[in-house]
Amino acid sequence: MKIDYSLVTRRTFLNTLFGGWVLALLSGSMYTLFKFAFPTLGKEPDFVVLKATDFLDIPLNSVKPFAWGGKLGLFFKKDNGSTTALKGVCTHMECNVTYKPEDKKFYCACHKGWFDQNGKNIEGPPPKPLELFDVKVESEKLIIARKGFKVELPKA
Ligand code: FES
Repeated sequence: MKIDYSLVTRRTFLNTLFGGWVLALLSGSMYTLFKFAFPTLGKEPDFVVLKATDFLDIPLNSVKPFAWGGKLGLFFKKDNGSTTALKGVCTHMECNVTYKPEDKKFYCACHKGWFDQNGKNIEGPPPKPLELFDVKVESEKLIIARKGFKVELPKA
């Protein structure tokens, strides 16, 4: 069937196609250059040092967020007073999770994923547990580190 009239001319169509291709090529090149210029950007740290009093005094059954590089970290105080820290990023498609004190579970609203208090995936699509960190208090400093990473702070 022949189209008698069209709002888009053949020239406009080809120009748009070519323009899109050039734009994709340029943005790919810019991304590569940007990654080369700033290699640590977006990388997660091996540990973070926080002020202990800001976190240890939170109420039972609650969380307090902290920055884990560019990602969300959650310091968590359980009902029994024990504390832990975990990456508040869902293992399904990396949405941030929230803590639901009434359910005593972590929830990812993106696709309805649930994790228990220990970060174990218990319902929904998340394939793995949340990443847990080591927590240590040292002279009013709260040190949160990757599991097994040995932190040595400079002596003052
Ligand atoms: S990203 Fe969390 S359930 Fe999909």
